[in-house]
Amino acid sequence: MEVVIVPDAESGGELIARGIADLLRRKPDALLGVATGSTPLPVYEALAAFVRAGEADTSMARIAQLDEYVGLPAGHPESYHSVLLREVVEPLGLRPDAFLGPDGTASDVPAACAAYDAALAEAGGVDLQLLGIGTDGHIGFNEPCSSLASRTRIKTLTHQTRADNARFFGGDIAQVPQHVITQGIGTILEARHLVLIATGKGKSEAVAATVEGPVAAVCPASALQLHPHVTVVVDEEAASGLRLAGYFRHAYANKPAWQGL
Ligand code: GLP
Repeated sequence: MEVVIVPDAESGGELIARGIADLLRRKPDALLGVATGSTPLPVYEALAAFVRAGEADTSMARIAQLDEYVGLPAGHPESYHSVLLREVVEPLGLRPDAFLGPDGTASDVPAACAAYDAALAEAGGVDLQLLGIGTDGHIGFNEPCSSLASRTRIKTLTHQTRADNARFFGGDIAQVPQHVITQGIGTILEARHLVLIATGKGKSEAVAATVEGPVAAVCPASALQLHPHVTVVVDEEAASGLRLAGYFRHAYANKPAWQGL
């Protein structure tokens, strides 16, 4: 996996947005897997700025959701569907019908999960999956000890994740749903390129376990080590637990220009 250490969240966002713009030049209708949370926001902001400046064309792009809360009514401002409409679909001027996601309100949750995996396959698979990381190493909502072969399914959130996400629900943990639908780790690993972004000291332990730890379900993001094309973009604080930081800087400084993101 490639680890790129950037000075701050903004430059990380710009680097990834540039990679997405390049992908869209090669494949205008690329399927972009998008993540929620605070960390990917600089990516979406930088990409929207490229679109405004005529440096990226998202008119044919499609997006796919990574995960969703179960049971939030359609249109709830914190459902990930609503969040992505606000943060990605509208600012990038995407067509609403170019937006795939699991149905968190379905009465038959297993059927909704299977339907989502089928929809991703039918759409040709995800070209680039953007990922954040939870403080416990989760990707999507695959909490510790998720099967590394898992498909899209229901999961129960840890107390830590609900506490982390309470800030989006007026600080009230009781309002954060217990259950979610998430692309499985096996599903995520089918994307052609995985790009994980992590910023801030709070993510340094999870980043070190992901990049330098053993592949182990206790740190779900460590499964990325099994994928042939992974880019991990971290700021100095999130990189602070990496033993091999010096090597990662050296490798990036000497990266052949033709390689791209
Ligand atoms: C949620 C999302 C994850 C995201 C994580 C971290 O749990 N399901 O996809 O990576 O939050 O969020 P943040 O980037 O705000 O720290």
